[in-house]
Amino acid sequence: MDFPIFHLDLLGNRALIAIIAVLHVIINHGLAVGMMPLVAAMEWYGHKKKDPRWDNLAYKILFVCFIITTTVGALTGVGIWFSASLVNPYGIASLIRVFFWGWFIEWIVFITEVCLILAYTLTWKKWTEQGRKKEHIMLGFALAFFSWVTMAIIVSILGFMMDPGNWLTDPSLWNGFTNPIYLPQLSFRTPLSLMQAGIIAIFLTLFFTHRDSFRYEALRGLGLWALCFTPFMLLGGWWYYSAVPETMQENLSVSLLTLEFAEWHDKLLYIIVAMLVIVLIVAQMAIFRPRYLPKWILVIPLLAVIWTTGHFERVREFIRKPYIIGKYMYANGMRVEDYPLLQRDGILAHATYSHPLTEEEKAIPQGKTTPAGKPLTEQEIAELQGHLQHGKDVFMNACSRCHTGHGVNSVNQHLRRMYGDGPWDKESVKSYMENMHGAQPFMPPFPGNAKELDYLTEYLFHLEENKTKIKGAQTSGVTVNTPAPKETPAREDAQ
Ligand code: HEC
Repeated sequence: MDFPIFHLDLLGNRALIAIIAVLHVIINHGLAVGMMPLVAAMEWYGHKKKDPRWDNLAYKILFVCFIITTTVGALTGVGIWFSASLVNPYGIASLIRVFFWGWFIEWIVFITEVCLILAYTLTWKKWTEQGRKKEHIMLGFALAFFSWVTMAIIVSILGFMMDPGNWLTDPSLWNGFTNPIYLPQLSFRTPLSLMQAGIIAIFLTLFFTHRDSFRYEALRGLGLWALCFTPFMLLGGWWYYSAVPETMQENLSVSLLTLEFAEWHDKLLYIIVAMLVIVLIVAQMAIFRPRYLPKWILVIPLLAVIWTTGHFERVREFIRKPYIIGKYMYANGMRVEDYPLLQRDGILAHATYSHPLTEEEKAIPQGKTTPAGKPLTEQEIAELQGHLQHGKDVFMNACSRCHTGHGVNSVNQHLRRMYGDGPWDKESVKSYMENMHGAQPFMPPFPGNAKELDYLTEYLFHLEENKTKIKGAQTSGVTVNTPAPKETPAREDAQ
């Protein structure tokens, strides 16, 4: 726990990553990985048929992708780094240690991809005039290849986070890279990207062509493209769907989670089927009834593709819980193997920073009394606030990666749902938190010691009385904790 904790109490930290990452995935899959081979194929087809209209359409579609991928696409790519390292520096740090060379190569591949898309777009007109069409088409396919390689590397990291496989016992980059979910997920995402590109290209074609025979020819061709990758998407999706339970269910010891997990896992299936239905409808319209394909109707499948992709990523994130790296590190950034130490010493003994309560956060409601009904003395207030400070620090370290105080997935709302408007019973809340992993196995076990459980419970009660938004390090700043007192045993393995 060596980093100050960034926290957004309204949307939640998860939403920050999710918004940026989903936008990035949609652009990356639909407009880069899937679209570059499609554009190159259209250019090739136009050249083969000596029909400049195909060439023209391909160029216009490429131009749209060029603008979006090099701006929003590239920025959200960097945005994932920024947001992920703000929200879970421990997770990203472990991943960098394992995948250093993977990312290093990915970086070179990405730079190559950017150079290629620049070259491909900017030389299009000139090389066409100079009769260097074949070379230009090759450039397009090279770009398509490099776009896919970036995905092929990153998907391995996503698979690793879900299930590191034999890396846990034999940690090497290769074992991490070839994790059990890698190939199934790649086999799903690849045709998914190609098919999505088909749907997006159909949409763009309606803007870039007139109501004439070429439009219908183009729509038919693009419809066929989308359709032809659909069976592969289905097969890949099925492989992915069946690879997930085998490996993930091993993680799940408790029956409740198995239920919860099964529900989310089924959602994955619905999403795959929903995508399939969307493509079938659009593609068959494009192929057989291109005249009846109005622009506005295509907004629906376009939004549906975006929605299902976003939801797909959310399900993927959910079924990974309570871990950020399967069986190795919990989502709160603490390693599974460090738990015995943390539960013995307490997490605060190992936390470098404290997140000071602001004046509003620590305000205690007027008229609060002791359990015996007496007004609190100043000394008691100061003592309570001391506890609340520890409670906040426990909450920030143990809960705030997934919960807010009063926003999305608010811990206060959960407690109100469970225990009513109050007054709550301290012992019940405490014993729930003590057994939180047993009750909801997608939450990690409580990482701290008994004293910290008390502080946390007091703090959770306080959140019920004081609805001020919890301030993260970016607002409240941090104080550096003094070294742990002497009686705290040092880490044995550090000696
Ligand atoms: C890995 C992410 C994660 C962490 C860390 C986490 N939770 Fe949760 N928690 C969840 C999710 C997800 C839910 C369920 C949300 C839903 O059902 O809508 C949940 C539900 C709850 C509930 C309601 C449980 C129920 O049975 O309905 C409580 C109370 C709760 N969390 C408290 C905490 C506290 C306190 C901490 C810190 C000690 C914590 N959680 C840490 C993810 C997490």
